[in-house]
Amino acid sequence: MSDAMALAWRAVEREGERLKGHSLRELFARDPGRFASLSFAFGDLLVDFSKERIDRAALDALLALAEAAELPARRDAMFAGERINTTEDRAALHSALRGGTDEGVAMDGAVAAHEVMAVQARFLAFAEDVRGGRCAARDGGPFTDVVHIGIGGSHLGPEMAVRALRPDHDGPRVHFVSNVDGADLADTIRGFDPARTLVLVASKTFTTQETMTNARSARAWLEAALGDRAGAHLAAISSNVDAAGAFGIRRGRVFGFWDWVGGRYSLWSAIGLPIAIAIGAARFRRLLAGAADMDAHFRTAPPCRNLPVLAGLVSIWRRNVMRCPSVALIPYDQRLARFPAYVQQLEMESNGKRVARDGGPVARPTAPAVWGEPGTNAQHSFFQLLHQGTDVVPVDFIVAAQAREADADHHRLLVANCLAQGQALAFGRTRDEARAEMGAAGVDEVTAERLAPHRTFPGDRPSTTIVHHRLDPRSLGRLVALYEHRVFVEGVLWDVNSFDQWGVELGKKLADRLRPALDGSPLPEGVDVSTAGLIRHLDRSTAR
Ligand code: F6P
Repeated sequence: MSDAMALAWRAVEREGERLKGHSLRELFARDPGRFASLSFAFGDLLVDFSKERIDRAALDALLALAEAAELPARRDAMFAGERINTTEDRAALHSALRGGTDEGVAMDGAVAAHEVMAVQARFLAFAEDVRGGRCAARDGGPFTDVVHIGIGGSHLGPEMAVRALRPDHDGPRVHFVSNVDGADLADTIRGFDPARTLVLVASKTFTTQETMTNARSARAWLEAALGDRAGAHLAAISSNVDAAGAFGIRRGRVFGFWDWVGGRYSLWSAIGLPIAIAIGAARFRRLLAGAADMDAHFRTAPPCRNLPVLAGLVSIWRRNVMRCPSVALIPYDQRLARFPAYVQQLEMESNGKRVARDGGPVARPTAPAVWGEPGTNAQHSFFQLLHQGTDVVPVDFIVAAQAREADADHHRLLVANCLAQGQALAFGRTRDEARAEMGAAGVDEVTAERLAPHRTFPGDRPSTTIVHHRLDPRSLGRLVALYEHRVFVEGVLWDVNSFDQWGVELGKKLADRLRPALDGSPLPEGVDVSTAGLIRHLDRSTAR
């Protein structure tokens, strides 16, 4: 670590020490301008950090840390197509898919922006053909259902976005299958007419065992009903075009992308095909435009007003100064129900790393665990722990000012709940307040005294509130790109490669080795006694 970085980290830690003794109640009482100075806007998007346990001085120390880490230069290297994914010798140029890279920039040394546009035009034309019935089922009728098969980055983004944009759907119904558990495919296609179903197989590598197993079963399902006409009901999205061809999907139905598009950053590529089928090419382009808005902001706004930079720095504060090992993401938006799962992969697969870029150990804890559910449902399950549990879990709240539904009553209540939770976490309820409230409600003194500790909320629990005008393709694109770039900023400060994922390899290899033993073949040599015992037990249970 450079001397400048070490000094900057020490300054951040000193700020942490300074703020330790000051509660959020105190910080708000001391500075009535806190909201104005710690909330930041970009277009209709507002990000309020004032309920985080920081102040301007702490933020300045974090900004100095970003400078010492040469964040602007690292960001520019990503947008310029440098091979910043050093362990796989690849660029990370998902921004190029949404127009965030200048025309003519050579990507990966070979692919130019116009090629990206050509592939995009091709898969969007296919989406429109499916929607318009020009790409028809074998009998000439339109497809009524589309089943997208993929996993991880080839699944979470499309599923999240399709759900988020439900009011914009005017194409065939789109469904998702990801788990190798046969229940996923079986439950999804139950009752579907194969003669009216299009199956999309999405896999960057076209080798992922879950996706290939599901794809083979789906193909068999189509073949059983349609015989050799089944091919007309299949399309693929992959950067391994040859493997898709070998699977039996004809060239014109294979939509490619490039190795510089990481799986978890791929919804902007042909992996977004199910989104385009659901909402149409024009709205899909608005999704891309929203992400491009955020790219431009990230590239050009000064760090002190740059939303992804600030959000990344606040994450660092939560993780490395407050030492919080997990964060919750609570969209007050039912249509963003899969957004926490999407960000979970984005954060944990990108920055869940224990070695730095040079292969040495990281200097500090890296990615937190990310989890969440939409509000208000979450309030009635795990919010108890957020308010009164022994660990502090910082929360991101996301809420739209305007609903897509006409009934404003629901939305007012939703927003009130979102704001109330942030308040309760930040300011809590003291023991005296709890006692006084019970007294006012007519509870006798002895009971009030006994219940007061249970009804006390410690407060001082940080949250960030993200408000946008309303959830639509453009605002969703912006929101997703905000989180992508936040993860990038964190990765720079932790000095990890945010674009590889070697940690998923070992389990896949071991599963391949164990699989024959589950068919009755001898156990692999050297297998541990626990795994061997479990296989024998499963074998006996299968025989029952
Ligand atoms: O599980 C790891 C992973 O490699 C993800 O990063 C990726 O998105 C997913 O598997 C699926 O990979 P593919 O698109 O090649 O099937």
